[in-house]
Amino acid sequence: MKLSPSLLSADFGNLRAEAKQVEPLADYFHIDVMDGHFVDNLTIGPPVVNSFRRGLEKPFDIHLMIDYPIHYAPRFEVQSTDIITFHIESKDEPFRTIEEIRGLGCKIGISLRPVTPIAAVFPYLDLVDLVLVMSVDPGFGGQKFMPAAVKRIAQLWEEIGDRPVTISVDGGINAANVGMVVTAGAELIVAGSAIFKQPDRIAAVHALIAAANQTQ
Ligand code: DX5
Ligand code: ZN
Repeated sequence: MKLSPSLLSADFGNLRAEAKQVEPLADYFHIDVMDGHFVDNLTIGPPVVNSFRRGLEKPFDIHLMIDYPIHYAPRFEVQSTDIITFHIESKDEPFRTIEEIRGLGCKIGISLRPVTPIAAVFPYLDLVDLVLVMSVDPGFGGQKFMPAAVKRIAQLWEEIGDRPVTISVDGGINAANVGMVVTAGAELIVAGSAIFKQPDRIAAVHALIAAANQTQ
């Protein structure tokens, strides 16, 4: 299991310090970019993401919840270990989007809303490094985990087979449900409020990791 703390639930006025606090236990930093069109929320964009990276070492896992990923993805200063994930429901054509993001030299992920059939991502499995399965409707942190995600992850895991594609899961993950998604095949776990809304964040991360490992 790998962990990608979602900074959406952190203090946006203090992003770097918030990230630093959990960095020793994190594999990535999950950064939610929203445009107010694809989802009904606005967050941060390239200028903030690019500048808050200074002083951080772990790679960025950038989740684009925006209508036009091809237009905005090149504005993120990415490294080869970073991931940029776009949504299959965005307005850009997925094969072209994959080609454009691949050209930036980072890893590439494809994500889908809970209402989108899981088979919608199957045609892209030879072209991406990661599939991000949403277990809440994208847009806000702190929502309740949708249990239907477990079966979707298991179906995706079957379909991936031997391909070098990581399954990630995002939305409502906590110590009570992380075991189910890991057992189903998720490897990169995104968690926001289960970490940043807790009084002791380090203890919260340890609890998540322990709960995930119990099932392995
Ligand atoms: C929701 C975002 C998630 C969110 C997860 O649209 O994509 O990354 O921050 O937050 P929690 O873990 O609180 O559901
Ligand atoms: Zn996210």
